[in-house]
Amino acid sequence: MKKDLIDILDVSTAEIEELITTAFDIVEHPEQYHERCKNKIMGTLFYEPSTRTRLSFTSAMQSLGGSVLGFSEASSSSVSKGESVADTARTVECFSDIIVMRHPKEGAPFVAAQNVEIPVINAGDGGHNHPTQTLTDLFTIKREKGRLDNLTIACCGDLKFGRTVHSLIAAMSRYQKVKFILISPDELKIPEHIRSEILLKNNIEFEEISSLDEAITKADVLYMTRVQKERFFNEEDYVRLKDSYILTPDKLINAKADMSILHPLPRVNEISVQIDKDPRAAYFRQVKNGKFIRMALVLKLLGL
Ligand code: NCD
Repeated sequence: MKKDLIDILDVSTAEIEELITTAFDIVEHPEQYHERCKNKIMGTLFYEPSTRTRLSFTSAMQSLGGSVLGFSEASSSSVSKGESVADTARTVECFSDIIVMRHPKEGAPFVAAQNVEIPVINAGDGGHNHPTQTLTDLFTIKREKGRLDNLTIACCGDLKFGRTVHSLIAAMSRYQKVKFILISPDELKIPEHIRSEILLKNNIEFEEISSLDEAITKADVLYMTRVQKERFFNEEDYVRLKDSYILTPDKLINAKADMSILHPLPRVNEISVQIDKDPRAAYFRQVKNGKFIRMALVLKLLGL
């Protein structure tokens, strides 16, 4: 495995398989992992808001017997004095064994990784990538569906700025017989580099449509996303597009009985709370899975 996890393609499918196997073992035998990271310290550098990602990394490290230091907003660190990402990373390297970084600028975790010897994990960089959310999604799909191949995956919402979708498409494109239905308003379609460098290049079957109703009948996995308010240049566009898709119980009538509904969360309006009771709603199980797969990842990157 590479030193860092910056892009989901940094891990091979064999390594993903290994991480998933470890995560299953952690679920089965948590007590065997309680001391594995004893005396290890994780530095969490969050320059952007986060609930699940930061807390699941913290919980993961604590459940492995390690400890965590860091900041959850750049304003409380020397970043507000103008310190560079490289210098902050080099400083945190003096106090920790592994760094987890979220940053609004694409490529910032990569810069950090270039400047330190310890592993760096990208916890989301701008509208670019979010590889540990994708590991969470893959582990969830494996648990819910029993497989990662032979699936029709419908991604719905903000496919332009939604970094989790970009990493998910890259990861799932390596499995056999995976088809994508990409549902978004015209202005929020997937970026051209995902279309040409991943989907077309690898001959992946996909369609781009704007109707959720049309797609829902065919999906094995429905991956809903939030419109990424913070990446819009003007409020007007956001307000116009934010409620493009709202999943309500009536929309599920024609969906497969065993379809899984995923969402990286936070949800705003895209999934009605009435759906939460539906057995197909997997998004809170997905949150929990995020902790187990992150435990597996930390062990792997620390060579433990
Ligand atoms: C996602 C993110 O930060 O990209 N959240 C998460 O990490 N679970 C999705 C989002 O913010 O919409």
